[in-house]
Amino acid sequence: MNAPVTPLHTGAPLVVSHEATFDPDDRAILAQHWYPVALASDLDKGPLAVRLLDQRLVVYRVGAAVVVASEFCPHRGVPLGQGTMAEDGVVCPYHGLRFGAGGRCVHIPAHPDRAIPAQFDLRAYPAQVRYGLVWTCLDPSAGTDIPAMPHWDEPGFQQINCPPVDIAGFAGRQVEGFLDVAHFAFIHTATFADPANQAVPAYRPRRTDYGFDAEYWSTVGNYPAGAAHTGPAGFRWLRHFRCTPPFTATLEIHFPHDARLVIMNAASPVAVGQTRMFAPIARNFDHDIPVEDVHAFNARVFEEDRMVVETQQPVLLPLDPAAEAHLPADMSAMMYRRLLKEMGLAFRA
Ligand code: FES
Ligand SMILES: [Fe+2]
Repeated sequence: MNAPVTPLHTGAPLVVSHEATFDPDDRAILAQHWYPVALASDLDKGPLAVRLLDQRLVVYRVGAAVVVASEFCPHRGVPLGQGTMAEDGVVCPYHGLRFGAGGRCVHIPAHPDRAIPAQFDLRAYPAQVRYGLVWTCLDPSAGTDIPAMPHWDEPGFQQINCPPVDIAGFAGRQVEGFLDVAHFAFIHTATFADPANQAVPAYRPRRTDYGFDAEYWSTVGNYPAGAAHTGPAGFRWLRHFRCTPPFTATLEIHFPHDARLVIMNAASPVAVGQTRMFAPIARNFDHDIPVEDVHAFNARVFEEDRMVVETQQPVLLPLDPAAEAHLPADMSAMMYRRLLKEMGLAFRA
């Protein structure tokens, strides 16, 4: 039988220790949105230590429930990412406190028969598994949703998750690079682009309920460089971008013969100068190609982009239209920056 409820701890409120890199006003807005923090397939590896918007978090699974919570043990501030997994939750390495579903403290080994006061619970955040990723939102009060990914759940589409890519750069710069259609002939010639195919045909982004989309038609192919098939002569490729600000976009590529490939660029803002990019892929062709080959090809493309994003200055994406010069080819970037500004973001350097 449990002893009478005696508060074991009546001290200071939970302190979330982190190094702040984001402007507080920007962070408050960004915190209202959903970001992926881990691959669902990594949940079996034990407690995962991750960082989002400067905040250190622990991610773990208890039965069917996935938990995203503050990483630091409420007892003495030890990071639970260094803990171990038990049947009923994550175990702190210092005094063995165990935390289960919802971040609830379920066991205190030093006082196994006492009731556990709420001060020992972890601060937990909403957690959902979608597109093979664990998503969370640090401030769910605004009621936002996880961005949509076309075709992911449709019959005939293979679901692939590339290993996440760590980029020493800002999420806004990275997403804008994903939307950029003028760099293929310069950055991606080793992977899919033709160095001679440089001109950018006109296109026009349109606002949508989730952000904006842009249908970009061109003759830039998307088969890997050196591939046996190149598609019908003169084929015009449609790249359909959908952008959900602040940091998620999808690209649906219309290949020859009604083949489709959708790639989501979900940039998780770790810190101002650190981004973890998750990239689920859905496609209705080439199902016989080993998934490792898909990972390898995309890793090369991501690497080409990473090298650029990490060099850009200023690190933060400038939202003042006068801060950088723009081409007609940059219509999507202009729309992206405008929508970020309308969300109230400033990204002041
Ligand atoms: S610091 Fe975690 S159990 Fe004591
Ligand atoms: Fe690129």
